[in-house]
Amino acid sequence: MTAAIERLAAGLAARASEGLARSRSVVSTPQGRAIVVDGRPLVSFASNDYLGLAADPRVAGALAAGVQAFGAGAGASHLLGGHQSPHAELEAALAALVRPCDGARALTLSSGYLANLAIMTTLADRDSEIFADRLNHACLNDGALLSRATFTRYRHLDVDGLRARLAASRAATRVIVTDAVFSMDGDVAPLAALAELADAHDAWLVVDDAHGFGVLGEGRGSLADAGVASARIVAMATLGKAAGVAGAFVAAHPTVIDAIVQTARPYIYTTAAPAALATAALASVAIIRDDAPRRAALFARIAQWREGARSLPWPRPASRTAIQPLVVGDARGASSLSAALRDAGVWAPAIRPPTVPAGTARLRISLSAAHAPDDVERLLAALRAAAPARATAARAMVGAGAQ
Ligand SMILES: Cc1ncc(COP(=O)(O)O)c(C=O)c1O
Repeated sequence: MTAAIERLAAGLAARASEGLARSRSVVSTPQGRAIVVDGRPLVSFASNDYLGLAADPRVAGALAAGVQAFGAGAGASHLLGGHQSPHAELEAALAALVRPCDGARALTLSSGYLANLAIMTTLADRDSEIFADRLNHACLNDGALLSRATFTRYRHLDVDGLRARLAASRAATRVIVTDAVFSMDGDVAPLAALAELADAHDAWLVVDDAHGFGVLGEGRGSLADAGVASARIVAMATLGKAAGVAGAFVAAHPTVIDAIVQTARPYIYTTAAPAALATAALASVAIIRDDAPRRAALFARIAQWREGARSLPWPRPASRTAIQPLVVGDARGASSLSAALRDAGVWAPAIRPPTVPAGTARLRISLSAAHAPDDVERLLAALRAAAPARATAARAMVGAGAQ
């Protein structure tokens, strides 16, 4: 072993000794309510496939048709010949659906991670200040760091704290950035208040709607849900969650889209996603736009869970979205609760630091239109059975703010 490998191994051993080692399970079925994980059939509450579209035959069929028509690969970056007609059609469909401002355009990218790097590095530079909710997704933070702007984080959802920081800023360009639906908590950002602050301080408002698109605002997303639209807003969402495919998009004023195309390295210097993914996403967007009963089924499962979980002893942050956390507290406790559920036929992996703040390890229960009422009952029964041994400790560790 070289000294460098020994140092790396020591770091991994330290992580494991704190109960924070990460591991990958192998899923040998399509995504859906019932999956096979490491050879075991389980009911899944782990995916972001909120509308059950990841294995929908219409979406999978569109993907297959896209491959027939356009082959497997895009062959080049968007600016050097890889931009194919399904990409262009998808961008038009997304702009029409999300409409964050009059005349908005949309741009697709290969992933949400890249989209956020592209947005942040396009809007901000050394002379800018970025104001970020403390619980934002990691890739928004990475984009902020890559932009070299001053990076200021405000307390989760704290509009007053943000107002004070904006007022004190001398930066030439100010950028407020927030998850719309927070990925590990399921709560929703105060978008109307943030848009007002953006107006008052001549700032951009970047909204990452990875978990709201397809779900809230009749599928149009969190901005539509909040009734907010403005040329200051740069909206992004992924196509790998409710849309059930892969990739992401930015929707914004045409000048913002032009600036990303002209300058954003995460857009320019990467091969375009296969056109067939755009063909599949077009099928998803049509379902998101037209299939209200599918969304109603998701909200029925959310209501069923919230009602049934009232008697559970773990703190549950308030959430009206598909993301329903159950806060356990310490990392080992969350892992052992997840293991108990797995023994009862339920798949709900533990989320531990640094993905969530220390002391708030949790199960991130994620609900889907694909779930049947019996699936939610099974989850609740498994949690009730696991509760007595574990919950008292969790309550003692995790304090107020949850219900
Ligand atoms: C809030 C949020 N933004 C961005 C991303 C990244 O999107 P993608 O998976 O398409 O890279 C994720 C999750 O993956 C997310 O939860």
